[in-house]
Amino acid sequence: MRVLGIETSCDETGVALYDTERGLLAHALHSQIDMHALYGGVVPELASRDHIRHGALLVQQVLRDAGLEMKDIDGVAYTEGPGLAGALLVGAGLAKALAFGLNKPAIGVHHLEGHLLSPLLAADPPPFPHVALLVSGGHTQLMDVAGVGRYTLLGETIDDAAGEAFDKSAKLLGLPYPGGPKLARLAETGDPKRFSLPRPLLHSGDLNFSFAGLKTAVLTQARKCADLPDTDPWRADLARAFEDAAVDVLSKKAMTALKQTGRKVLVVAGGVGANQRLRATLNALCAKAGVKVYYPDLQFCTDNGAMIALAGALRLVRGQRDAQTGFNVRPRWP
Ligand code: KG4
Ligand code: ZN
Repeated sequence: MRVLGIETSCDETGVALYDTERGLLAHALHSQIDMHALYGGVVPELASRDHIRHGALLVQQVLRDAGLEMKDIDGVAYTEGPGLAGALLVGAGLAKALAFGLNKPAIGVHHLEGHLLSPLLAADPPPFPHVALLVSGGHTQLMDVAGVGRYTLLGETIDDAAGEAFDKSAKLLGLPYPGGPKLARLAETGDPKRFSLPRPLLHSGDLNFSFAGLKTAVLTQARKCADLPDTDPWRADLARAFEDAAVDVLSKKAMTALKQTGRKVLVVAGGVGANQRLRATLNALCAKAGVKVYYPDLQFCTDNGAMIALAGALRLVRGQRDAQTGFNVRPRWP
């Protein structure tokens, strides 16, 4: 079955073609980062309009890249939520119109299920069951994954998401949107010993996270450093301290989740999964604990159409599909 996937939940238009036998056939992405950077964050109305500009063109591009035609599509998957309402509606409208015109099934996909299953796109996919650490701009969750569609939430953030904390801390350090990867780059030259930041909920005994206090600690330190001369590397040092604290909590809680569930496989997904210090730390801890750890390709850590095509395909082959008439999106979807 060949499934077209369309992702428009936020600031990337992602389109891909996934074949249930041959794997990923083609994928294309248009990022809106440059447009939103002018405003210091995502402007929802501009995001919707840009998805309109690029969605259909990217569909044509992936078909061309795969050497296929519209008639070769067996189903259409799209991100139904969570995300920005207008942006989601553009993707859903495009997907539903294509499915209707082709007389093929459509299926709405939960964006986080896309992230969760994205490591399955790799040549060496993780086996089930496993524990998943889902770390994106909007979510931070630990899940027990028994199989496709069989997910148990083990713990999650009680306030900010990990990516959100990276982005907000980056802003406090004067870095432009989206700050997460820029903060990580700045931290590379930072002195890990200069600042010591809190590890919220590290010893809470449960698998929940909290990042709001960590961000506030960055703000407090940044205020104290504001008058230092330009030559002082406090920004890099503070970036390093923030990254160390966030990575420490994420990795230790992931290891606790593995111990509690008895699982021997860890999957890391979502934008913060691209963070190299998080990967290096988890690699070391997992090697010591006899756990095998899997990450998506860097290009599939952040938002993309491939993970939506994959998640949709896995549901369509199980006979799941949307009702044929009308469509809806779910900006908030637990
Ligand atoms: O999964 P994603 O693309 O979007 C959501 O579904 O939220 O994640 C985006 C988040 C942003 O907060 C971004 O700053 C963060 O992932 N991110 C990183 C890195 N690359 C992306 N955070 C830390 N280090 C990175 N290298
Ligand atoms: Zn995402």
